[in-house]
Amino acid sequence: MGRNLVYNMCDHGYSVAGFDKDEGKVDSLEKEAEGRKVVGARNLNDFFAALKSPKVVMLLVPAGKPVDAVIGELKPFLSNDDLVMDCGNSHFTDTDARTEQLAKEQIHFMGVGISGGEYGARFGPSIMPGGAREAYDRVAQMLKDVSAKVNGDPCVVYLGPGSAGHYVKMVHNGIEYGLMQLIAEAYHLMKACLNLTNDDLHNIFSKWNKGRLKSYLIEITADIFAQKDDLTDNRLVDMILDASKQNGTGQWTSQNAMELYLPIPDIDAAVSARDLSGLKAERVAAQKMLEWRKVAFAGNDTELSAWLENALYFSMITTYAQGMSLLQRASKEYHYDLKLDEVAKIWRGGCIIRSGLLEDILSAYSAEPALPNLLVNKALGHELQACQDGFRLAVKTAVDAGVPIPAMMASLAYYDGYRSGWLPANLIQAQRDYFGAHTYERVDREGIFHTQWKQKQN
Ligand code: 6PG
Repeated sequence: MGRNLVYNMCDHGYSVAGFDKDEGKVDSLEKEAEGRKVVGARNLNDFFAALKSPKVVMLLVPAGKPVDAVIGELKPFLSNDDLVMDCGNSHFTDTDARTEQLAKEQIHFMGVGISGGEYGARFGPSIMPGGAREAYDRVAQMLKDVSAKVNGDPCVVYLGPGSAGHYVKMVHNGIEYGLMQLIAEAYHLMKACLNLTNDDLHNIFSKWNKGRLKSYLIEITADIFAQKDDLTDNRLVDMILDASKQNGTGQWTSQNAMELYLPIPDIDAAVSARDLSGLKAERVAAQKMLEWRKVAFAGNDTELSAWLENALYFSMITTYAQGMSLLQRASKEYHYDLKLDEVAKIWRGGCIIRSGLLEDILSAYSAEPALPNLLVNKALGHELQACQDGFRLAVKTAVDAGVPIPAMMASLAYYDGYRSGWLPANLIQAQRDYFGAHTYERVDREGIFHTQWKQKQN
């Protein structure tokens, strides 16, 4: 990814020095960069000798300890006013700690989320920078130049102070987990209920990608079904073990949302579904013991795929809605002052969660920056109403077939919960007060109350 970003910067006229501990990578950087303004450095002395002061250093290293280790190695070469940009998926609290620590030595530090994988890095990613405004201004033009463009607008904007950039990238990844799981659930239900070949699935996803589901993830899903396996006569997708891995950003999103008391159940379900997939051996054993007399699907291909198109559209909206509401809550809590329309704007191109829907999300927040939730945006609310029948039918089909669709179910329950003026939380409060004297509020008068419940004697 680092190398691709270097080429991208060169294409825009910047001269860049690249350092990697792996000399092989530096060799290939120099070879491939021939004719461009690139210096390949094999040690930090050479690397820093190639930089002008005040220096700008971009780090592309795995999150966690490697970032601290690299910063430690860079420090002796850094001086007042130099700027270090961490372009990996660091946890936002680490970014805040590093910013504070380096500031003591007059070194600027920015947490910069970059999305789009290797291709994005080479030809235009979505860039999510946070940190001091003055630091951003120094690199703003370069970031704009290398970023993806949508209708000429660069997919980068200053997001806010401290860890704002890494926080937004974390939520981007949480949404990414949600969308990926929803797509996988649609695949599972069609595979279980219909007699479809991978070519049929390719066609269905390709068709969906021409309509309102248009998005990078639907597009690559269509491609995946068409990919042949090099080692057998099968399609590659059927030869891949059904146990998904993760690097943690989805989990961090869920953890942080829970800390902020902000519900993001589609994303939570997606994280849990990855964890469940990892229990492969247990699942294989359980399959032999736990049976369900499943109800065969009586409808036809077109019917189910139409319901699923509704289901995906609906649940994609709720997934973005949850991610955006988390950003809104976090922005207040951590004083990021995020502009949600700008976040939607820079996610429209270059990143993994880019989709046609982000245009509607951008319009929603441009019209009403403080919108409490996308579900109550007039246009999107109308869309949800219009496709809920098909969605509910898809959910019923999954229940009958015994196919797990946890993220879709979470999406529907979120919607049904959010639009309920009354929820049974009065009973939860009564139970808490019954067994723990935790008190409750009343619907008819102000104050805090406790009742001496008639305790059950055992
Ligand atoms: C991106 C991706 C990128 C990475 C994910 C994968 O925006 O380009 O999100 O950051 O591919 O972190 O995450 P998992 O390994 O956790 O699935």
